[in-house]
Parts: sequence; structure tokens; C-alpha cells
Amino acid sequence: MKVLVTGGAGFIGSHLSRRLVALGNDVVVMDNLSTGKKEHVPPGAHFIKGDICEPLTVSRAMKDCSAVFHLAASADARGDADTDYKVNFLGAQTVFERAAKHNVKVVFTSSAAVYGDAKVPHREDIQCKPVSPYGKSKLKAERAAPKNSFIIRVFNCYGPRGKGVVNTFCRKIPEYEDITVYGNGLQTRDYVYVSDVVDALLLGFDNAGVYNVGTGSETSLLNLIDVIHKVANAKPHVTFALARQEVARSRADIGKIRRELGWEPKIQLEEGIGLVLQGTSPVPEKPAA
Ligand SMILES: NC(=O)c1ccc[n+]([C@@H]2O[C@H](COP(=O)([O-])OP(=O)(O)OC[C@H]3O[C@@H](n4cnc5c(N)ncnc54)[C@H](O)[C@@H]3O)[C@@H](O)[C@H]2O)c1
Repeated sequence: MKVLVTGGAGFIGSHLSRRLVALGNDVVVMDNLSTGKKEHVPPGAHFIKGDICEPLTVSRAMKDCSAVFHLAASADARGDADTDYKVNFLGAQTVFERAAKHNVKVVFTSSAAVYGDAKVPHREDIQCKPVSPYGKSKLKAERAAPKNSFIIRVFNCYGPRGKGVVNTFCRKIPEYEDITVYGNGLQTRDYVYVSDVVDALLLGFDNAGVYNVGTGSETSLLNLIDVIHKVANAKPHVTFALARQEVARSRADIGKIRRELGWEPKIQLEEGIGLVLQGTSPVPEKPAA
């Protein structure tokens, strides 16, 4: 099957593209390399440098595709509001309009940020209260997606090539570098390993609807540091700084995806941290042709 992966040179997109190639698909990756890297595009995928905000480039990249996995985004949850609106909403809208025109199935990575300060656990049908411009732009994009789209709300994803807090701490703690905790460290997140997110994305070929993709458990920053300490066998040097404006608790209710699609997170936090510390990658890193 021919598929397009937007943002396929980024963290999750490169893992997804690698898996799609390994499964025998004809994979086109489109990315403007604003944060992604060409060398992360797997061998066997066809790379197009392009911007999702340009309808003609998107149409060309989508030619003869059965599905588009739309991951390209300004993925920094503390990013600039104008960029979030332009790339995460308007760019997504362009991809969705082109997909509808060419009859291409949409699989879209939304985010737990759409829930904002809503009560935990976050269930798909609760009222979303995004607080960040990033969360607001993702919710607007969800609402612009074609009716039969498969949308996953990804919680905090980590793994080789990731850029979030798990990856940052896994890089710094073994080197005895200082790590900074903003606030008291009791804020929680639901950390999900990248291969589990890829498993969920692949369900998008045959399904539609909105589904949470997390583990169903929440871990405080202080607990996360303890786990990395234990797995890396290195004592962390922690500095506390003034609290930032951020969501206090985040935890997915994963009942819907479990019940309806049989998806389960397979990698537990300790194991996933071990894989990040080893720098494990499923396929050797070689640039695309
Ligand atoms: N990593 C997480 O924890 C997480 C959580 C929830 C949702 N998500 C979503 O998953 C998707 C992938 O996130 P990621 O962590 O891999 O981020 P990433 O930054 O590694 O990947 C995003 C990719 O999109 C590309 N891109 C950005 N703007 C573009 C544009 N205008 N045109 C074409 N390409 C563009 C970047 O170069 C990059 O390669 C994003 O949509 C993000 O919002 C990620």
C-alpha cells in the first residue's frame, strides 16, 4: 500500500515510517526538516522536503496514496502561539482538505494537551479544556479532520530519538549533569513508549474515531527521576526552580482503545527507560535514498 507520512523525519514519524517500510508499504515521507532530520528517514522511504501549509506540495506527495499519517507539527507544547495556529491547525486543515479531495484515509496524531486542566483520568468524551496554544491548535485540527479519520490523542511519548523529559533526564543523569525540576516535582504525566504509539497508529488503516494512547498510569517527576536513578544506577543531581504554568496531572483512560480495538501498551516505564539508556533502535540508522 502507498502511504504518506507527514513529519516522518521527526521522532514518532521516523519510528512509524520505519515500521511501515518493514511491513512492505510504499512509504513517502514529507517533512520541512524544521526539527526533523533527513538521516532519521528510513532506507526504503521516498523523501520529499516540503511544507504542509503548501496545498500543491501536499497534493503531489499524496498522489496514489491510500492513507496519510499526519504527524507534522510544531510539537513543542510551549511553542509560539502563531506557529501553533499556522502549522498545527491551518497546516493540518490543508492536509485534511487534500486528503478528502483525493479520497485518502486520514490518521492524525492529536495530543493529550487537548484535555488541559480537565479532571483525570482523561476520557475521550469529557469536555476538553486546553490551556496552551498548542493544545488549542490540536483540538481545532481534530475538529477539521474528515469524518472517517482515525485520531489518536498521544500522551507523553518517549523512546530513542525522543525530546521530552524522559529522554532529557536519561541523557543527563548518567553523565551526572544537573537536572532542573520546575515546582515541587509532584506534577504527573502518563509516559508511553514510542513503539506502542506506532502500534496504535497502524490501527488507523481500518478504524475511525478518537482514541487515547497512553498507559493509564501517571508518574510524578520525582518518581520518574527515581526510576531512572534505579535503572541507570547513577545518582541524579536535582535543582528545583520556580513552578511554571503547566497542567498538574495527566493520565489517560485507555478503556476505549482496549475494549474496541484490543490495543494494549506493551512496554512498561522501567523497560522503556532501559531501552532509551541503551539507545536501542529497531532498525540501523541509515539515511533514505
Ligand atoms: N512526542 C510526544 O510526546 C507527543 C505527544 C502528543 C502528540 N504528539 C504529536 O505527534 C506528532 C509527532 O511529534 P514528535 O514528538 O515526533 O515531534 P517532532 O518535532 O520530532 O516531529 C514533527 C516533525 O514535523 C516536521 N514539521 C514541522 N512543521 C512542518 C511543516 N510545516 N511542514 C512539514 N513538516 C513539518 C518537523 O520537521 C518534524 O520532523 C506531532 O503532531 C505532535 O504534536 C507528540
